[in-house]
Amino acid sequence: NEIGGIWMNNQEIVAQAVFEVVKENLTLPEVERLLEKPKSVDHGDVAFPAFALAKVFRKAPQQIAAELAEKINPDAFEKIEVVGPYLNFFMKKEVISSMVLKQIAKEASQFGNSNIGNEGNVTIDMSSPNIAKPISMGHLRSTVIGNSISLILSKIGYQPIKINHLGDWGTQFGKLIVAYKKWGSEEKVKAEPINELLRLYVEFHEKAEEEPELNDEARAWFKKLEEDDEEALELWKWFRSESLKEFNKIYSMLEVEFDSYNGEAFYNDKMDEVVTMLEEKHLLQTSEGAEIVNLDKYDLNPALIKKSDGATLYITRDLSAALFRKREYNFVKSLYVVGNEQSGHFKQLKAVLKEMDFDWSDEMVHVPFGLITKDGKKLSTRKGKIVLLEEVLNEAKDLAFKQIEEKNPDLPNKEEVAHQVGVGAVIFHDLKNDRLNNFDFNLEEVVRFEGETGPYVQYTHARAMSILEKAAFTVDPEAVYALNDADSWEIIKLLQSYPEIVMQAADQYEPSVIAKHSIRVAQAFNKYYAHTKVLVDDEEKDARLALVHAVTVILKEDLRLLGVHAPNKM
Ligand code: ARG
Repeated sequence: NEIGGIWMNNQEIVAQAVFEVVKENLTLPEVERLLEKPKSVDHGDVAFPAFALAKVFRKAPQQIAAELAEKINPDAFEKIEVVGPYLNFFMKKEVISSMVLKQIAKEASQFGNSNIGNEGNVTIDMSSPNIAKPISMGHLRSTVIGNSISLILSKIGYQPIKINHLGDWGTQFGKLIVAYKKWGSEEKVKAEPINELLRLYVEFHEKAEEEPELNDEARAWFKKLEEDDEEALELWKWFRSESLKEFNKIYSMLEVEFDSYNGEAFYNDKMDEVVTMLEEKHLLQTSEGAEIVNLDKYDLNPALIKKSDGATLYITRDLSAALFRKREYNFVKSLYVVGNEQSGHFKQLKAVLKEMDFDWSDEMVHVPFGLITKDGKKLSTRKGKIVLLEEVLNEAKDLAFKQIEEKNPDLPNKEEVAHQVGVGAVIFHDLKNDRLNNFDFNLEEVVRFEGETGPYVQYTHARAMSILEKAAFTVDPEAVYALNDADSWEIIKLLQSYPEIVMQAADQYEPSVIAKHSIRVAQAFNKYYAHTKVLVDDEEKDARLALVHAVTVILKEDLRLLGVHAPNKM
């Protein structure tokens, strides 16, 4: 039997085996396309319907199936069952397990890597919080989803470029300047920038309800800012840098880094170009004094490019940013990891670029995600009702510390592990659901060591690591490790599917595929460990330990792709 030399999944193994006996009539890809996955495990791992050969052989499919079953090389299969016109293949567990365990012993964390991406650049617009406001749970989602997508894409050979498109421009700065000048103080902003700026912002909105003139003042200050007034610019820069300091605290807790912080303001001097292009292509129309692009043919609202007072808009900046990114990075894909509520905006953005005849607009993808609610309600900044992210992360850390204290009081690096577990729990919780799902945030649930949580996966990994340590086991890539039992088979199949899992996560821009895989591996492993005496001295001991080793490798890699640490002890 040839397998074991090169990596194949079960479909490919069956396809190869069938192909060997139908060479004259079908190509290998044709065979592969015909294969089916049986609905129930009782019907084996892979099925081949013989209908396709009925014409060539001029025989009933049932008869063809029976004849093929006789001819096919049985080495890789426990049995090949003929059920009517179907051939049901049951993989030979010891063959597949030795193939999978050898591959993971050889490749370790490289298992599942590929170069499909061909080093193509993929820009990922992610995080992108707004200056002078707290970074919200939505921005947290964007940050951790974007980061995980970048890790998954680089595993398959793309070159991710993480861009923080900061919301550092807009009329809110006029409001802030007014509020700061009236009710603010330098010391307070320095001491607690975001809190203080948020307080000023909230105060502005409260006062403006009674004194609408404040809005006119704010508009006037924003106009000054746009005209490069020195005082206004000075204050804006200061708000920006103080805010960024606070954001960076969170980014460093999450260990997320960016390749660019070019935010909205970066495009202030670059929008004329795109407006001119729109004019030249006769795409701009005037409507009630404003400049718009009509998008009727896309069934979308018109894109508002310039207001009647000449002010540019969010979409104008995004148009300019898209052009800039294409030139700067020549991306093969351009992702925008932004909440679902902005999907209208991204449809318009793409449609306008399409109207401008930029083919690369087809490669722009909005990667939307659902809302995080608290007690069923949307979190809003305006009213100052906000869960502060730094507090959430610190609280998660504290809760993790308490649990470690209970379970493993002698652990030497408790602080470090508590950080990895607490922060990891928040990240994992965010990534384990399909990204479009809304979910309610409950910290206690997030850091639980049981159930489908990050700490559970981390804990399972640490447990497996301690088994390896106890056995003083090192895996040997040249050895043959074969297993034959039903509990290990469940794990083997999950490990074997890993390269496809990674591809699926990448294709769908869906980190939850990885998170769910890690939970299934952890559950299968814990079940195995409960039923099997791994360390008993018999001839399968090394094979069992090689399986434990493979589990540690894949759990750690799953977690890494989510941006979560896998401590060896906890
Ligand atoms: N700052 C925006 C917000 O908080 C998100 C920006 C998303 N990125 C973009 N290129 N529009 O809503």
